[in-house]
Amino acid sequence: MEHIRTAMQKAGASFGSPRTSEPPAPTKPLQETVWDALPVARLSPAHLEGSRIVTLDKNHQVGVAYDMLRTRVLQRLRENNWTSIAITSPTAGGGKSSLALNLAFSLSNRPDCRIALLDFDLRCPTIGTSLGIPASSPIEEFIRGTRSFEQSFKKLKDNLAVATNGRPVEFAAELLQSPEAVRCVTEVREKLSPDVILYDLPPMLAADDVMAFLPNVDCAILVVEAEKNTPEQVAACEYELSSRSKLLGVILNKCRHAVEAQAYGYGG
Ligand SMILES: Nc1ncnc2c1ncn2[C@@H]1O[C@H](COP(=O)(O)OP(=O)(O)OP(=O)(O)O)[C@@H](O)[C@H]1O
Ligand SMILES: [Mg+2]
Repeated sequence: MEHIRTAMQKAGASFGSPRTSEPPAPTKPLQETVWDALPVARLSPAHLEGSRIVTLDKNHQVGVAYDMLRTRVLQRLRENNWTSIAITSPTAGGGKSSLALNLAFSLSNRPDCRIALLDFDLRCPTIGTSLGIPASSPIEEFIRGTRSFEQSFKKLKDNLAVATNGRPVEFAAELLQSPEAVRCVTEVREKLSPDVILYDLPPMLAADDVMAFLPNVDCAILVVEAEKNTPEQVAACEYELSSRSKLLGVILNKCRHAVEAQAYGYGG
């Protein structure tokens, strides 16, 4: 951001303000002022571990797998000039929210990357509870524009902001396809200027929420639950995601037969 401020100061000087007056205060880019104003959440590592958030520990074996995913995701986003990702699954409980949180923390370990995570599973919000953030504000009011960024987002790190939800929404699909949702998504992109925006969404086959919201994102990740989701369910979701958005990838979660990652490092 420094180069933007420097350019603005130079432009101001070229207008030739009188010598006696104060030099104009450098204007901060909008996204910096919004990030500066976000309240900071206090997180408990023990609580996060209980929620299966493993990407805080640099040496965690599963954390390494998320880091590999992070790098692939970032490469695809940058190649295509994309920022927003929907995270969904065929059925409930596949691990969407856990993946969204772990991916968000893993991405935030890259200081050149700004991340916003929004709990848009309007029927069953869990992100706040997983993080141990009490009394989240209702995200419906943020989507409708009656609550501010400062009231709705918490800063978990200097480059990671999360909007949790304290109240399920009755008409979730209707809200997700409303003009207010479009305006909200645009504002998040413009005001926070994140490199990556993760939307934690509900399962696809349970309701039309995901289909309603997909036009607002650049791409989607499908989390498939091993030994639960059938090939037919996966194919149906892949078809919907590919026809309404870009399918960034399919992740097989809760797989008992995963090959153990080889530890690699200098610590022994
Ligand atoms: N890889 C995994 N191995 C074992 N348990 C997991 C794994 N990923 C997630 N879980 C657990 O499965 C449960 C459901 O996970 P999570 O809440 O992330 O799923 P979800 O898809 O967001 O669910 P919902 O559809 O209800 O929103 C949680 O108890 C979580 O800790
Ligand atoms: Mg969830």
